[in-house]
Amino acid sequence: MLLTTINIFFMLTSSTPLADFTTDRDALLAFKKAITVDTSGALSKKWLTNTSICDWAGVSCGIKHQRVTGLDLSNFGLHGILSLHLGNLTFLQYLDASSNNFTGVLPAELSKLRRLKLVNATCNNFNGQIPRGILTNMTTLEYIDLRFNNLTGALPSNICNNTPKLKRLSLIMNQIYGKIPRSIHKCSNMEELSLSTNMFNGNIPTEVGNLTMLTLLSIYDNDLQDALLAFKKAITVDTNGVLSNNWLTNTSICDWVGVSCGIKHHRVTALNLSNFALYGSLSPHLGNLTFLLSLDVSSNYFTGVLPAELSKLRRLKQVNVTYNNFSGEIPRGILTNMSVLEYIDLRFNSLSGALPSDICNNTPKLKQLLLKMNQIYGKIPRNIHKCSKLEELRLSMNMFSGNIPTEVGNLSMLTTLSLCSNDLLGNYINP
Ligand SMILES: *[C@@H]1O[C@H](CO)[C@@H](O)[C@H](O)[C@H]1NC(C)=O
Ligand SMILES: *[C@@H]1O[C@H](CO)[C@@H](O)[C@H](O)[C@H]1NC(C)=O
Ligand SMILES: *[C@@H]1O[C@H](CO)[C@@H](O)[C@H](O)[C@H]1NC(C)=O
Ligand SMILES: *[C@@H]1O[C@H](CO)[C@@H](O)[C@H](O)[C@H]1NC(C)=O
Ligand SMILES: *[C@@H]1O[C@H](CO)[C@@H](O)[C@H](O)[C@H]1NC(C)=O
Ligand SMILES: *[C@@H]1O[C@H](CO)[C@@H](O)[C@H](O)[C@H]1NC(C)=O
Ligand SMILES: *[C@@H]1O[C@H](CO)[C@@H](O)[C@H](O)[C@H]1NC(C)=O
Ligand SMILES: *[C@@H]1O[C@H](CO)[C@@H](O)[C@H](O)[C@H]1NC(C)=O
Ligand SMILES: *[C@@H]1O[C@H](CO)[C@@H](O)[C@H](O)[C@H]1NC(C)=O
Ligand SMILES: *[C@@H]1O[C@H](CO)[C@@H](O)[C@H](O)[C@H]1NC(C)=O
Ligand SMILES: *[C@@H]1O[C@H](CO)[C@@H](O)[C@H](O)[C@H]1NC(C)=O
Ligand SMILES: *[C@@H]1O[C@H](CO)[C@@H](O)[C@H](O)[C@H]1NC(C)=O
Repeated sequence: MLLTTINIFFMLTSSTPLADFTTDRDALLAFKKAITVDTSGALSKKWLTNTSICDWAGVSCGIKHQRVTGLDLSNFGLHGILSLHLGNLTFLQYLDASSNNFTGVLPAELSKLRRLKLVNATCNNFNGQIPRGILTNMTTLEYIDLRFNNLTGALPSNICNNTPKLKRLSLIMNQIYGKIPRSIHKCSNMEELSLSTNMFNGNIPTEVGNLTMLTLLSIYDNDLQDALLAFKKAITVDTNGVLSNNWLTNTSICDWVGVSCGIKHHRVTALNLSNFALYGSLSPHLGNLTFLLSLDVSSNYFTGVLPAELSKLRRLKQVNVTYNNFSGEIPRGILTNMSVLEYIDLRFNSLSGALPSDICNNTPKLKQLLLKMNQIYGKIPRNIHKCSKLEELRLSMNMFSGNIPTEVGNLSMLTTLSLCSNDLLGNYINP
C-alpha cells in the first residue's frame, strides 16, 4: 500500500526520463552476493538474471522509469551483511530489511540515497555505529526503525542537522551510549522518539521540549551508565586504578572491567569486583541495574551500609560482599523478599542489628545464608523454616541469643549449620 502510494507519488513528481537500469541490477546482484544464507530461497529462486529486476521478490520499481524504488525483504530469513552497493539504488525510497539475520554495520552509503524515506532494519544483529550521514544529512528521510539490534557508539552531536522530515526515530534495545544531543530539536517534525533500553546517560536535553509534534517519547531503562558511574563515584580509593582507567564514558559499559552484560539484551547482568582493593561505600544506584543477576564485591575495603535498594533487584540470584567492613543492619527486604535469591554471603563484616522476624517470607530459592563473623544479635527468628531450600546456614561468631528455634529442624535440605560462638541456649549438633 505504502509502496503504491510512493510509486504514484513518484510518477507525479518525477520528470526523470527512462534510464538504464543496469546500475540497479548490479547493485541488487552485489546485495545478493553478500547474503550468506537465504533460508527461504527467495533470492536464489526469484532473483534470476533472465527476469526483470522489477519482478524479483521484494523489489518494487517505478512504473515509468523502471528503477528500483522499494526493497521489502522483511522476514526473508536472510543472513549476511547489507551490501554497501545498495547506495547505488539512487531511486530507492523504501528499504525494509527488518526481521532477518543481518550482521555487520549499516552501510554509510545509504546516506547517499537522496530519495530515501524509510529505513527499517529492526530485529537483526547489526552492530557498530549508525552511520553519521543517516542521522544528520538525509533530506527526505521520514522513518528510521533500528530497534532490536546490537548498535553501539554515540549519536552524532549534530544529529538532525539536515533531516527536516524525520518523524520517527526508533532505537529501542541497542547499546547506544553518551548523551542525547541537543541538536535533536532540529528534527522539528519528530513525532516519535524511542530511545529506551540503550545506554544513554545524562539528562534529557531541554531542547526535546521544543519538539512540538512529538507524541511519543520513550527513554526508560537507560540509566545503566549513570548507575555504574554513581557506583564509581562512591569509591574513595581505587588502589589499582581499575575503575579510573577502565570505566570510561567513551566506551560501552559492557566493555568495562568487572561488568558483564546479557548477550541479547545488553543489560548489566553481573558486577564482579572481587579483590580489587576498593575503598568506599556501595552506591544505592546499584538498585537501578534491573537485570543484575550477580553482585560480587567480596574482599575489598567497603564500609557503610548495604543499600536497601538492592532488594529492588528482582532478578538477583547471588550476592557476595564477604570480607569488607559493611556495618549497620542488613536491609530487611534482602532477607525477606528476594524471590530468586540463591545465596547471600555477608561473612566477615561489621553488620549489626537483629534479623527480621519475617525473614524468609519470600526468599523461596535461598540455599546459602552466610552471616558468620558479624555483630548480629537477637533471636534466630522462627520464620527461618520458610527458607525450605536452605542448605547452608552459617551464623557463627555473632551475638545471637535465646533458644535455637525448633523450626530449624524442619529445614530438610540443610547440610551445614554453624552456630558456634554465640550466646545461644541449648545444644545443636552440627550435622
Ligand atoms: C556502486 O557505485 C560505486 C561508486 O560509483 C562503484 O564503485 C560501484 O562499482 C558500484 N557498484 C556496483 C555493484 O555497480
Ligand atoms: C530463467 O532461468 C532459469 C534457470 O536458471 C529457468 O529455470 C527459467 O525457466 C528461466 N526463466 C525464463 C523466463 O527464461
Ligand atoms: C536468526 O538466527 C537464529 C538462529 O541462527 C534464529 O534463532 C533467529 O530466530 C533468527 N532471527 C531472525 C530474526 O530470523
Ligand atoms: C550531505 O549530503 C550531500 C549529498 O549526498 C553531500 O553532497 C553533502 O556533502 C553532505 N553534507 C555533509 C555536511 O555531509
Ligand atoms: C519495521 O518492521 C517491523 C517488523 O517487520 C514493523 O513492526 C515496524 O512497524 C516497521 N517500522 C516502520 C517504521 O515501518
Ligand atoms: C554485539 O557486538 C559486539 C561488538 O560490537 C560483539 O562483540 C557481540 O558479540 C555482538 N553481540 C551479538 C549478540 O552479536
Ligand atoms: C525552544 O523553545 C523555547 C520556548 O518554548 C525558546 O525560547 C527557545 O529559543 C527554543 N529553542 C530552540 C533551540 O529553538
Ligand atoms: C576515551 O577517553 C580517554 C580519555 O578520557 C582516551 O584516553 C581514550 O583514548 C578514549 N577512548 C576512545 C575509544 O575514544
Ligand atoms: C568473581 O571473580 C573472581 C575472580 O576472577 C572469581 O573467583 C569469582 O568466582 C567471581 N564471582 C562470581 C560470582 O562469579
Ligand atoms: C536510580 O537510583 C537512585 C538511588 O536509588 C534513585 O534516586 C533514582 O531515582 C534511580 N533512577 C531510576 C531511573 O530509577
Ligand atoms: C564469596 O567470595 C569469596 C571470595 O572473595 C569466596 O571465598 C566465597 O566462596 C564466595 N561465596 C560464595 C557463597 O560463593
Ligand atoms: C569496621 O568498621 C567499624 C565501624 O563501623 C570500626 O569500628 C572497625 O574498626 C572497622 N574495622 C576494620 C577492620 O576496619
